[in-house]
Amino acid sequence: MVLEVKGLCKEYMRGSQPFYAVDHVDFSMDKGDFVSIIGRSGSGKSTMLNLIAGLLDPTEGTVTISGQCLSGLDDEALSAVRNTVLGYVPQGQTILSNLNVLDNVRLPFYFSKREGTSTARAMELLEQVGIGHLAESLPKELSGGELRRVSIARALMCSHELLVLDEPTGDLDPETTAEIMELLKSIAEQGTAVLMVTHELDTTTYGNRTYVMDRGRLTPSKIAL
Ligand SMILES: Nc1ncnc2c1ncn2[C@@H]1O[C@H](COP(=O)(O)OP(=O)(O)OP(=O)(O)O)[C@@H](O)[C@H]1O
Ligand SMILES: [Mg+2]
Repeated sequence: MVLEVKGLCKEYMRGSQPFYAVDHVDFSMDKGDFVSIIGRSGSGKSTMLNLIAGLLDPTEGTVTISGQCLSGLDDEALSAVRNTVLGYVPQGQTILSNLNVLDNVRLPFYFSKREGTSTARAMELLEQVGIGHLAESLPKELSGGELRRVSIARALMCSHELLVLDEPTGDLDPETTAEIMELLKSIAEQGTAVLMVTHELDTTTYGNRTYVMDRGRLTPSKIAL
């Protein structure tokens, strides 16, 4: 089992009224699974991914990735675990504009304080996502689809077990979206568990399972695609 989510909840306040942004979510993923989560704006998708990525503390429930439970760890231990068990592509653009493409991809390696050199691994990942020729370019010289490939390569730098993506194609045209989805499918076929949140129903056809998020509740999709 790569990911196991049990009874996961996040409670927030709206005014003086508490509500569950994530409401008792249970699900799990194996090696090579490609899971899509679809849901309306505000349904709790990003909150759930942030809980899975260890960026938010759950009100209740647990997240276990590759046998490592994220609960009860202090900040330093949590960062160390996060850096080894998952790669996260957050919603929006997160590439650093003052570093070239290769250095953006190498960045997590330095945060993880590992020994050795990261250049060969970063180049291998850039080739895998189809932009090896752009290694020395600056982010401002890249298209939206190319930038998304940089984010994916960077997320895979320190962990190949679980790749989590929040709306990876929300700002891309249909053709570039299809290319990114093919890339994610091939990453899953090589054994990485891929968990993606999306607004776009079409993109769920690339995965092997789809769930719907509605007011914090996660249920398997009954939509025939
Ligand atoms: N820090 C917070 N405090 C209070 N409420 C919050 C907080 N963060 C998110 N929310 C609320 O929780 C709900 C879920 O938000 P979330 O960002 O997870 O939605 P989403 O499904 O990712 O939406 P989108 O598709 O627009 O990205 C929303 O109603 C939002 O207003
Ligand atoms: Mg969101």
